[in-house]
Amino acid sequence: MKARLLRIAAASVLALAVSAGIAWWQVNNASTMVANATKSAVPIGGPFTMTDQTGKTVTDADYRGKYLLVYFGYTYCPDVCPTELGVMTQALDLLGRQSVNVQPVFVSVDPERDTVAHLKDYVALFHPTLVGLTGTADQVRDMARAYRVYYAKAPQKDAKPDEYLMDHSSFIYLMGPNGNFVGAYQAGTTADRIAQDLGTRIAD
Ligand code: NI
Repeated sequence: MKARLLRIAAASVLALAVSAGIAWWQVNNASTMVANATKSAVPIGGPFTMTDQTGKTVTDADYRGKYLLVYFGYTYCPDVCPTELGVMTQALDLLGRQSVNVQPVFVSVDPERDTVAHLKDYVALFHPTLVGLTGTADQVRDMARAYRVYYAKAPQKDAKPDEYLMDHSSFIYLMGPNGNFVGAYQAGTTADRIAQDLGTRIAD
């Protein structure tokens, strides 16, 4: 019992530290866009090896040359994930032709249930260019760590063992064409705003 409470406490402290870090970047920028990585306290992003929705092994290097919109979540998510992926999709549609410069990526924090086949069906519900990434528990943990993403299983009372939810942080990360962290859009940022911001950056 005590160990479980300690784990919960540790997880809360970590989540707080992550949101405090992100809040810190936000105050440095007037928009909902988080300030440049060079000004941030903690580096975001970096190398990863995962499996995409076609079953191919991919690394961060495979996505160089395009801006990346990276969102971490899970396909069984009842609300936040589909909402944010919908916003990403809408932002890309609003961008029009410029969207060829942007690669949207959905990263599963629930590799146990998010199989390659399952991811393939799921990403198809959103943007046609949306890539879904999953991997081994270790690969997912490493990538989430690199992006400072918090996630944890949230078992439901009176539910079957495989009917759990996942707690997870919800940011749309923007990575530059060189794989560098540009910033993060808070959950709730509108598609208009994201499209506008992306459009300006791509035009530069
Ligand atoms: Ni979610």
